[in-house]
Amino acid sequence: MVRIREAKKSDAEEIRSVAEKTWYATYDGFISHETIETVIEKWYKVTDLKQQVEDPYFFVAVVEGDVAGFVHATISKEDKEVLELHRIYLDPDYWGQGVGSKLLQKVLESVDKGIDRIALEVLQGNEVGRGFYVSKDFEEVERESVELFGEPVTQIVMEKKL
Ligand SMILES: CC(C)(COP(=O)(O)OP(=O)(O)OC[C@H]1O[C@@H](n2cnc3c(N)ncnc32)[C@H](O)[C@@H]1OP(=O)(O)O)[C@@H](O)C(=O)NCCC(=O)NCCS
Repeated sequence: MVRIREAKKSDAEEIRSVAEKTWYATYDGFISHETIETVIEKWYKVTDLKQQVEDPYFFVAVVEGDVAGFVHATISKEDKEVLELHRIYLDPDYWGQGVGSKLLQKVLESVDKGIDRIALEVLQGNEVGRGFYVSKDFEEVERESVELFGEPVTQIVMEKKL
């Protein structure tokens, strides 16, 4: 039984653990372990997460008392009509059982008035993530070459109108 609820400070360590396990499972083979290690180190600091969970769009999926996944979005600083979906990560043990759909649904249900679309970036090569977004009617807007801590990657920008 899965429960989706707002994230809280005491979830921070578990969110980091889920992120670490899921990053390796998702990107192993096309992003170096060194870069993944850096991402977890820099983007998932427990102290930062404890602040980020205060954001209105940070939810966790709890299965049998443990955090199994999370989603985090914020309103774009450049365009208040856009909600940027930064992360949706689910422990691979639970993939394919509808939990990711429930996390995204929670965000969609919570969207403030005035927001007219959701935007996100998914790395080229991440067919699990891209397949998920395509199934939720996100459409590709553009592709851009960027560096992830010095490693060249291509990210696919996708959007969904609300
Ligand atoms: C993306 C993610 C959150 C989806 O969660 P999930 O619980 O596995 O997804 P769901 O079971 O709700 O699946 C919903 C739909 O997504 C699509 N999907 C799910 N897994 C997929 C896969 N491995 N390949 C392609 N499409 C997939 C399917 O269309 C599915 O619908 P269906 O079950 O009717 O076929 C999860 O797989 C995950 O954490 N992946 C790694 C992290 C990631 O890529 N995050 C997004 C980039 S930031």
